[in-house]
Amino acid sequence: SSTLGAAAAGSGRYFGTAVAAGKLGDSTYSTILDREFNMITPENEMKWDTTEPSRGNFNFGPADQIVNHATAHGQRMRGHTLVWHSQLPGWVSSITDANTLRSVMDNHITTEMNHFKGRIYAWDVVNEAFADGGSGQHRSSVFQNVLGNGFIEQAFRTARAADPAAKLCYNDYNIENWSDAKTQGVYTMVRDFKARGVPIDCVGFQSHFGTGGPPAGFQTTLSNFASLGVDVQITELDIAQASPTAYANTVKACMNVARCTGMTVWGIRDSDSWRTGENPLLFDTGGNKKPAYDAVLSAL
Ligand code: XIL
Repeated sequence: SSTLGAAAAGSGRYFGTAVAAGKLGDSTYSTILDREFNMITPENEMKWDTTEPSRGNFNFGPADQIVNHATAHGQRMRGHTLVWHSQLPGWVSSITDANTLRSVMDNHITTEMNHFKGRIYAWDVVNEAFADGGSGQHRSSVFQNVLGNGFIEQAFRTARAADPAAKLCYNDYNIENWSDAKTQGVYTMVRDFKARGVPIDCVGFQSHFGTGGPPAGFQTTLSNFASLGVDVQITELDIAQASPTAYANTVKACMNVARCTGMTVWGIRDSDSWRTGENPLLFDTGGNKKPAYDAVLSAL
C-alpha cells in the first residue's frame, strides 16, 4: 500500500491522527489528513473545558466540525475524552459535594455521548486516572477526591448506558513498560473490571516516547492487556526526533499483537505537535514525508 491508512487496513487495523478543527482549512494539512489517515482523534475539541464550559451549557461546535469532516471523508472517530483531571473547567474542579459531582459527571458523559451517538467508534471514557511513580494507585483529582475509587467504574457504566454501540476505553501515558507500578495498577483495574462485568472494551496506550522509542517490554504489555479480553490501541504516538527505528519498533509491537487494532499519531506535521521543538511526527513542517514515515509504512 502507498498510504498509512491503506497499509494498516491490510491487516484490519486503522492508522489515525489527532486533528485540530482550526487547521482543517489549511490545504496542506487536510490533503495529508485525507490521503493518509482513516481514524481521527480531536486534539482538544471534545475536552470538558470546550464542551461544557459552564454547568449545563454545552458547546459541540468545534468537535462537530471535525466529526463532519470525518464523515465526509470516510474516516472513523475516537472520542477524546469524557472524564479527565486536565483541561477541566474550574466550576467542576471546585465541586465538593459527592452527589452533585456524580450527577455532573454522569450528565456530562451522557449528553456528550448522546450528541455524537452513532458517529464515534471508541471513546476514551476516562483519561490519565493513575498516578505517576511507584504507588500504582489513582492520582489525586476532583473525581478521585470527592467520589473515591469507584468514579472510574461509575463513568464506564454511565457511558455504556449512553451509547451501547461505542467501544469504551481507558487511556493513559507511561503504562507502556510492563514492570512499571503504573502499568500494573491499570492492569489490575482492567482485570477487576472484566471479572466483575464492569463494561470496558479497550485500553489506549498514549505512547509519548523519548528518542529511544518504546520500552523493551512494550509488546509484552500490549499482549498481556489483550489477554484480559480487551482491545489495545496506540493512541497518541509521538517520538522525540522521530527516529525511524524507534517508530518501526513501536508499529511492530502493535502488529505482533492480534488485538492491537490500530495506531494514532498525535498530529500530522512537526509544526502541529504539542511537543514544540522535538520534531516528533511523521511529516515535516512543509508537509513532506520524513524518514520515519517510510519506516512506519514498511512496518505496517
Ligand atoms: C494535548 C494537546 O495536544 C495540546 O494541544 C493541549 O494544549 C494539551 O493537551 N495526553 C492527552 C492529550 O490525553 O489530550 C494531550 O493533548 C496530550 C497528553
